Amino acid sequence: MKLSGLHIFKDYNQASSNQRRVLIKLAEPFIDSLQHIDTNFNETIVISDYGSAEGYNSVAFFNQTLPRFREFSQKPIMIIHNDLPENNWNTTFKTLEDSDSYVKIPNVYFSGLGRTFIQQIFPNNYVHIGISSLAFHFLPQSFSVFDHICPSSTNDLILKQQIAEVAHSHFINILTQRYKELVDLGRLLIIIPTETVGMLYPAVPIQIVNENMYAKGVINEEEKGKITIPTYGKSDEEIQRALEEVKHLYRIIENKKVDDDWKLTEENKEEFLESLKLLAIKHLETCLKRVVKRDEEEVKLIIEEYRKEIEVIVENTPFTRFPTFHLIILEKIPF
Ligand SMILES: C[S@@+](CC[C@H](N)C(=O)[O-])C[C@H]1O[C@@H](n2cnc3c(N)ncnc32)[C@H](O)[C@@H]1O
Repeated sequence: MKLSGLHIFKDYNQASSNQRRVLIKLAEPFIDSLQHIDTNFNETIVISDYGSAEGYNSVAFFNQTLPRFREFSQKPIMIIHNDLPENNWNTTFKTLEDSDSYVKIPNVYFSGLGRTFIQQIFPNNYVHIGISSLAFHFLPQSFSVFDHICPSSTNDLILKQQIAEVAHSHFINILTQRYKELVDLGRLLIIIPTETVGMLYPAVPIQIVNENMYAKGVINEEEKGKITIPTYGKSDEEIQRALEEVKHLYRIIENKKVDDDWKLTEENKEEFLESLKLLAIKHLETCLKRVVKRDEEEVKLIIEEYRKEIEVIVENTPFTRFPTFHLIILEKIPF
């Protein structure tokens, strides 16, 4: 199929096939965990999907996995999709009601929960399986970093160390809150990107646009420093250190690096570039709205002006690779 122009994707949902490939890596551990819960509990199985975004990938994930569980169990299932209050929940709920969504599977129910997972968001001993794909690496705060759009890639070594410490205590906090929410022997299935050297999409085009906007005086020094995508990819050692700290809470079932084996080919190139452009534009839009404190119309004009530029930059910046990922499966040790 010949694809052309950004109109082929409407939103994050549709431009997130790269994230979907990663989430699907949780499919086998998830089915295994469903079996484990089915054997050990009689009640409705409660599943929390932490950081679901607009739900497109979650729907694809549950569409693929739940029918396999239904082959051997009819137990009721309740899925709660969680993201920040600012998430586009209209799209989430429309996506969930799509004709091919998992919600049509008998005895499967769902709801949405717009609250930060930094705090406890379920009662004690409530969730049987928590899953989270590409969300627990988001940091709880922004950093003012002048030299780099990804705060964790800054050349300021002291700041870099501070960010690493924030990322560490944030992750420990997330694991501690989830521990309270999980039932005894409940499972937490996590995929996070690991440390990557240099910049990756969509940060590369945004970094260039950020520099250009500053050079032309469209944004000031303070704004340039605050345009960040606050995420942090941990090294193997950092993940090890965090798991060591929570070993009294969880039994580690799995802790391994997973590579993204996807390759760029002539056939998938056009669709891939289109999805990168959309992601880059979405990120730029979010960043500008957050840090440029001007009226909405002005921010809109800046975005319009740089939309075209970002498209050209994506076309001309050679794509190298995606990050690697870490898959972690934990089981709650009864209190
Ligand atoms: C890269 S998206 C991943 C979405 C989806 N899980 C997937 O695999 O496509 C990360 C999501 O995590 C959400 N997120 C980040 N920090 C969060 C927090 N503290 N509480 C709830 N959601 C959060 C973001 O809003 C975003 O929608």
